[in-house]
Amino acid sequence: MSLSNTYKRIPLKIKRAKGVWIIDENDEKYLDTFSGIGVLSFGHCDEKINEAISEQIKKYTHISNFFVDQNAIEVAKRLIEETGKDGSVFFANSGTEANEAVLKAIKKIKKGYIVSFENNFHGRTLGSLSITGFSNLKKEFEPLLPNVVFLPFNDPKKLKSFIESERENISTIFVECVHGSGGLDIVSKEFIEIINHYKNVYNYIVVADEVQAGLGRTGKFYSYLNFDLDVDIVTVAKSLGGGLPLSAAVFTGKHKNVFTIGEHGSTFAPNPVSLAASKTVLDRLNKYFLNSVKEKGNYLRNELSKLKEKYSIVKQIKGLGLMVGIELDIKQSDKIIEFGLHERILLNIVKGNIIRLLPALNIKFEEINELLNRLEKVIKKI
Ligand SMILES: Cc1ncc(COP(=O)(O)O)c(C=O)c1O
Repeated sequence: MSLSNTYKRIPLKIKRAKGVWIIDENDEKYLDTFSGIGVLSFGHCDEKINEAISEQIKKYTHISNFFVDQNAIEVAKRLIEETGKDGSVFFANSGTEANEAVLKAIKKIKKGYIVSFENNFHGRTLGSLSITGFSNLKKEFEPLLPNVVFLPFNDPKKLKSFIESERENISTIFVECVHGSGGLDIVSKEFIEIINHYKNVYNYIVVADEVQAGLGRTGKFYSYLNFDLDVDIVTVAKSLGGGLPLSAAVFTGKHKNVFTIGEHGSTFAPNPVSLAASKTVLDRLNKYFLNSVKEKGNYLRNELSKLKEKYSIVKQIKGLGLMVGIELDIKQSDKIIEFGLHERILLNIVKGNIIRLLPALNIKFEEINELLNRLEKVIKKI
């Protein structure tokens, strides 16, 4: 194939897609549980997003950062407002770029150890890879950034003991409250309490990577709001641009003015077409919608727990909101994907044995039931 060999691709020739459905060249309909890896909160070909895109491309598609697009201000305002603090936004195109901006900024704010956790995922460019807790992804590319320490996720004793021994030598702690690629584990209350408590004592920076769990996926605008984590900097991407590339690093409080003119930049970001789409995404993330995500997530996980009772191969149901993991007793991702294709459901596997469901946030209850039916058939086959 003429494409870089970086992904194991699913043999499906896609003709078009709508809502939670992907239609192949033979007009077969597949239920899509990927949503483009958590990108399409409102499903494929959402009318409002497509309309906003059409309107914007008639005006302009790119102007560069020497001019301000009003939509950039509005999107930034909303991202800041949801932190409950004062702040400023640096826009980029992808999750990894937003995290790179933060890695650069924290060098200016405070030198010292960067703490990350096992199974945190922050991206694949060299900086973000340095703070990603997947040793298999890093082996070939070392040495990476120095002074990065990985601690076990949700081990309060080890975290406490590291903080108490390094104190003021800690620059930043990166938290991914709900692990996406790392297996859908949720940060514990005890862990959060330690991070919050010592933050005030030793003045480290807390960064919430909300690239996957943010923007409503867990039923809150930011996933860290489920846990009362005291956050200084937030990164978002994935669904921010409604399917188009857009990401952001939100710097709050005293870190608001971390960059000065010329210190960081991007030719492309924020793209005006992505911003127009983003506005229509953010406008719909109101409290009623977020509650509906919570409700649907609870329903889905509850029904999946019944499958756990029925099939011994299902070990655990994980996640929060519509970010769901089904941990299986076997590591056979190829088989699961293949059986999914037979049952016309598109399944994504993380860690080799966890089916990760990231359906559109506006999925209907009857579509969730259809998802459950098809998934049960796949599990039965396995
Ligand atoms: C939590 C998290 N952070 C960062 C990234 C990197 O985002 P991108 O692939 O847009 O660079 C991802 C991607 O999956 C992610 O899930």
